[in-house]
Amino acid sequence: MAKEIWKPGNMLYPIPAVMVTVADNQGNDNIITIAWTGTVCSDPALAYISVRPSRHSYRMIEETKEFVINLTTKDLAFATDYCGVKSGRDVDKFAECHLTREAAKYVKAPLIAESPVNIECRVIEKREYGTHDMFVGEVLAVHADKQYMDETGRFDLSKADPLVYSHGMYYSTGEKLGKFGYSVQKNKKTSNKKVNKTADSKSKKMSKKRADKTTDSKSKNIKK
Ligand SMILES: Cc1cc2nc3c(=O)[nH]c(=O)nc-3n(C[C@H](O)[C@H](O)[C@H](O)COP(=O)(O)O)c2cc1C
Repeated sequence: MAKEIWKPGNMLYPIPAVMVTVADNQGNDNIITIAWTGTVCSDPALAYISVRPSRHSYRMIEETKEFVINLTTKDLAFATDYCGVKSGRDVDKFAECHLTREAAKYVKAPLIAESPVNIECRVIEKREYGTHDMFVGEVLAVHADKQYMDETGRFDLSKADPLVYSHGMYYSTGEKLGKFGYSVQKNKKTSNKKVNKTADSKSKKMSKKRADKTTDSKSKNIKK
């Protein structure tokens, strides 16, 4: 396998591109698209966003120490891009993108009604690293759209067609490959013995393949 070594950079893809809503104490609000975002901790629930100080939204987050992460979908792809290339200094992104403001439960920043999930956050920490400052937010509330729940109340985000951002491009999510833990799940139709046997022979085959490859590449290196 031939690989080039690149200088340090972020190649951690795919990732979500979310629309973050913010507000100040004078009643102004804004939307900023953020890709540098993620989970920090499960309990307490903490999430982060990294924002350049030059962004119009930065001042608002600094002022109220609050933000809302609004998840995006295939239908929201255009708005997601727009809110990431236009500044709230020049346009009202809610109006331009025909998005609906909805009152949050705990924070001043509005929710985007069209988003399937809105995560209300209060900043507990700011870290200055360089180009971006990281705001760690304590999750105060999560709003989940009922239209993506089944009769039992199970929420299926895949029904909302979540948006994925990868190396400068937007994608919708593809085929479902399996659920959490499926790699070790026992097949109900097969007996445990059979499953273990299959898994065992599969892993043996995988190890053999890897060993063959290593021997092969080692012998190639020796020849050189
Ligand atoms: C897909 C995408 C992801 C982005 N991610 C970030 C990010 O993580 N942090 C950031 O500061 N800016 C990010 N931006 C740029 C801002 O969204 C952009 O500069 C925006 O116009 C700032 O809006 P504002 O001036 O109204 O705050 C991203 C833009 C796009 C299109």
